[in-house]
Amino acid sequence: MDILALIKNRRSIRHFKNDEIPKEDVEKLLEAAQWAPSAGNRQPVEIIIVQSQKQKEKLVANALDQKFIQEAPLVLIICADLKRSSVRYGERGSTLYAIQDAAAATQNILLTATAMGYGSVWVGAFRESDVIETLELPSNVRPLAIIPIGKSDKTPSGPGRRPIEEFVHQEKYHRN
Ligand SMILES: Cc1cc2nc3c(=O)[nH]c(=O)nc-3n(C[C@H](O)[C@H](O)[C@H](O)COP(=O)(O)O)c2cc1C
Repeated sequence: MDILALIKNRRSIRHFKNDEIPKEDVEKLLEAAQWAPSAGNRQPVEIIIVQSQKQKEKLVANALDQKFIQEAPLVLIICADLKRSSVRYGERGSTLYAIQDAAAATQNILLTATAMGYGSVWVGAFRESDVIETLELPSNVRPLAIIPIGKSDKTPSGPGRRPIEEFVHQEKYHRN
């Protein structure tokens, strides 16, 4: 699949079969995160792998009862170590670059999962303090995305997108 077709074929998947994901596949998904760009190559991303039912159930409760999280055989929580970025870039590092770096890693994982035939979804609606407690994160590590991943037998047709001419501006911002 060419890269644009892959990007357009990725869908948020919210139903999973509970077939286990082989270790080599988990490693490929982690490699996708490893090779994401990061500001100054600070690589502030930290990833928690969750496979136990107990932790998944806690995450469901932390994430506004989004039950599909516990259906997925693999759940990755993408976090950013804000200190790794702030030591080089100060406040811009911790409030912007670290977050952008984690977003880039998240998208790499979603696309790689799609290419490998797995469904996944970027879950951002969760109570941050509860996830911090569940995962026992230190104070410099912020959880930014929960990604449930697994095989799915359903691929929904995605919601539409704004037309390009509506959000792209020539030379400077023009109100539409
Ligand atoms: C920052 C962010 C947070 C999101 N949070 C959730 C979420 O909590 N639950 C969910 O089901 N989908 C969540 N999504 C997925 C979006 O709903 C989805 O990407 C969007 O509707 C477009 O659909 P598509 O991914 O199939 O193209 C989130 C996506 C992003 C980028």
